[in-house]
Amino acid sequence: ELQALHGLERGVLRIAGVTTTEYFIAQWLHRYTTEHPGIDIELAVDNRDAVVRRLREEAIELAVMMMPPEQPPLEGVPLMDNPLVLIAPLDHPWTRLARVPRRMLDGAPLLLREPGSGTRLATEAWLRAQGRQPQIRATLGSNEAIKHAVAAGLGVAFLSRHALADDPARDGVVIVPMAGTPIQRQWMLVWRRDRRLSLAARRFVEHMRAQPPQPPATTPASPAPAPPGDTGQA
Ligand code: PGA
Repeated sequence: ELQALHGLERGVLRIAGVTTTEYFIAQWLHRYTTEHPGIDIELAVDNRDAVVRRLREEAIELAVMMMPPEQPPLEGVPLMDNPLVLIAPLDHPWTRLARVPRRMLDGAPLLLREPGSGTRLATEAWLRAQGRQPQIRATLGSNEAIKHAVAAGLGVAFLSRHALADDPARDGVVIVPMAGTPIQRQWMLVWRRDRRLSLAARRFVEHMRAQPPQPPATTPASPAPAPPGDTGQA
């Protein structure tokens, strides 16, 4: 009966997600459109700065991101963990250690996302907090580009666990068991406190509150088991 009522609702859900959400946001939208078949979806996928700009310009009503800005004033609900793992190519010497000390990052070639990326912000904040100084080898404009560059041996990088296959070896990378990682972050669903949400947006917030997304079984990341006899005291 509720379904029938919802079926009569019309509108457009204008929503944006940061780049790492593209791996599962379609599942949430599918569930939502099943309950609200009359509502059309407009989804933008972009980095954090671009998503914030869309909120400011009111091109979207809802956004999914890790680090909501102070402006515009936002309200939100936490959705799901987004652990950022350190990845290295399959044949990297660190993959033979049970535990990789943080100081090994000093001078190591690191790949970063482009300025404006939330992943980049979180990585830089973590490096500062740990007092580590890797050598920034390259800046790349997408999670996929980072993944392929790491697999190709260009450097190591922090990447959302959700951007990797269940078995990261299928992407040609391993998750490095470094102390203090993964960087624990979380996604929020946010909207402007100073605007009234459309029916479509209100229904989406209600929907996500009622049915919080379940993280895949592989997250949070567990490092690969170390080969026998390795103490990790590098
Ligand atoms: P981004 O996403 O790196 O594409 O900006 C970061 C996030 O998950 O908030």
